[in-house]
Amino acid sequence: MGKSDKWLLLTFLTIVAGVVGVAGYWVESEPLNIGRYYLPNSGGPVMFEHKAHTDLTDGCESCHHDLLLSDDRYDCSDCHEDFVAEDFDHTDLKTIEAHSCGTCHQIDESAQAQSCRNCHSSVQETDEVSTACIECHDAEYTADLLTHDEMREVHDQDCGSCHYSRVISVAYHEQCNRCHFVENVELFASQEGNVRCEMCHLK
Ligand code: HEC
Ligand code: HEC
Ligand code: HEC
Ligand code: HEC
Ligand code: HEC
Ligand code: HEC
Ligand code: HEC
Ligand code: HEC
Repeated sequence: MGKSDKWLLLTFLTIVAGVVGVAGYWVESEPLNIGRYYLPNSGGPVMFEHKAHTDLTDGCESCHHDLLLSDDRYDCSDCHEDFVAEDFDHTDLKTIEAHSCGTCHQIDESAQAQSCRNCHSSVQETDEVSTACIECHDAEYTADLLTHDEMREVHDQDCGSCHYSRVISVAYHEQCNRCHFVENVELFASQEGNVRCEMCHLK
């Protein structure tokens, strides 16, 4: 390593240490103060214990999925001898009990958790789920040109340029129930296996 390289490295490390220090300070000085959410809706209001759930679950990204990096992933081989990603559908990978999104996807440390409503609205404008690139670009633009994180980046994190996100109630029902059924199906489902609505909706 040349002398100037060493200086460069040293300067770089100093900046990194500074940034990490400041970031650590911010996190420590701003404890998450959201105890609970009262979510009124036509099915009966839902009391959601945010703080309790944060303590119960692995990480913020189990719900705030926009904190996930889709491309930076752990390999199946980190934990398994005989599974490779190519043999599975993503839908199947998500529903394996022992997996949460963060089992495979790394976290975007620079992102902030947001309200689900920022992206999942209360009315479904269309039945379609996504837009084709060709609606806005030339025919040579196809989804396999870029990875998902790159697509997010070139579109300034505007998910809506490609997705019609599902409505808020469906987003909640799907996400909340998926985890509850893994954690404690006896509590959250009836003997016939139906969702027990009254576990969440107060009358
Ligand atoms: C079990 C699911 C779940 C977990 C885990 C979770 N949250 Fe949340 N969070 C929610 C829901 C639901 C809301 C209400 C969102 C809304 O207003 O639409 C919320 C709201 C928030 C908001 C307010 C957003 C806004 O602009 O109104 C912040 C900030 C937040 N969460 C941060 C965190 C952080 C940090 C963690 C991890 C320490 C975390 N959450 C863990 C589900 C969760
Ligand atoms: C951080 C660790 C981790 C990573 C990474 C991971 N898994 Fe898993 N996976 C587990 C654990 C723990 C289980 C439950 C215990 C078991 O069955 O081995 C599991 C279970 C499974 C099962 C169900 C096994 C069964 O017999 O029911 C499949 C299939 C699976 N994983 C596939 C994958 C694939 C494919 C990948 C990569 C895309 C992957 N996993 C990445 C930890 C991981
Ligand atoms: C067992 C590992 C595993 C789990 C669990 C998992 N993913 Fe993935 N995810 C992958 C792999 C592998 C890919 C890339 C291949 C693919 O698209 O099937 C991927 C791709 C993605 C993409 C990019 C879309 C695309 O097709 O390029 C997004 C977004 C994503 N995952 C979100 C999630 C969310 C949200 C969850 C939790 C609800 C989740 N993932 C759970 C392994 C996993
Ligand atoms: C609703 C319209 C819309 C759709 C659909 C859309 N894009 Fe874009 N895209 C844009 C706009 C607007 C920009 C410019 C964004 C900016 O500069 O902030 C852009 C920028 C880009 C860029 C980088 C700049 C450039 O022009 O080369 C790439 C690459 C790209 N899009 C690829 C895609 C791909 C791949 C798809 C389909 C998976 C897609 N886009 C779907 C509107 C769209
Ligand atoms: C340039 C287009 C584009 C942009 C912008 C984009 N996505 Fe995607 N996304 C895709 C494509 C293409 C897929 C894979 C095909 C599919 O499943 O629709 C995908 C898949 C996903 C999936 C997996 C769907 C599933 O059911 O597993 C999630 C979650 C997702 N995107 C979230 C986001 C979020 C959050 C944002 C914004 C921060 C975003 N996307 C921005 C094109 C885009
Ligand atoms: C930055 C925008 C954004 C935020 C914030 C966001 N989502 Fe999403 N979400 C998306 C997009 C885009 C998709 C892919 C389109 C789709 O499937 O609806 C998606 C997909 C989903 C899915 C289906 C994919 C899966 O995980 O199986 C669920 C469920 C979901 N979101 C629930 C939530 C909940 C609950 C919250 C709040 C805790 C939330 N989302 C916050 C943009 C967002
Ligand atoms: C990552 C997993 C996970 C997610 C996502 C999740 N929960 Fe939970 N929830 C739990 C666990 C674990 C418990 C405690 C279950 C037990 O006592 O065995 C729980 C308990 C509850 C209870 C209390 C039930 C009782 O004992 O009376 C309610 C209500 C609830 N959750 C609502 C929600 C809502 C609303 C959402 C979606 C915004 C949600 N949960 C998302 C894991 C989750
Ligand atoms: C895990 C908790 C949970 C369970 C279980 C649950 N819900 Fe919900 N439900 C929610 C949340 C959270 C919302 C959205 C609140 C909001 O809009 O902020 C919601 C919204 C709704 C809405 C309003 C839809 C709209 O578009 O305004 C209806 C109706 C509803 N749920 C019916 C049901 C029924 C029927 C069941 C049983 C089959 C059920 N829910 C089970 C949490 C739950």
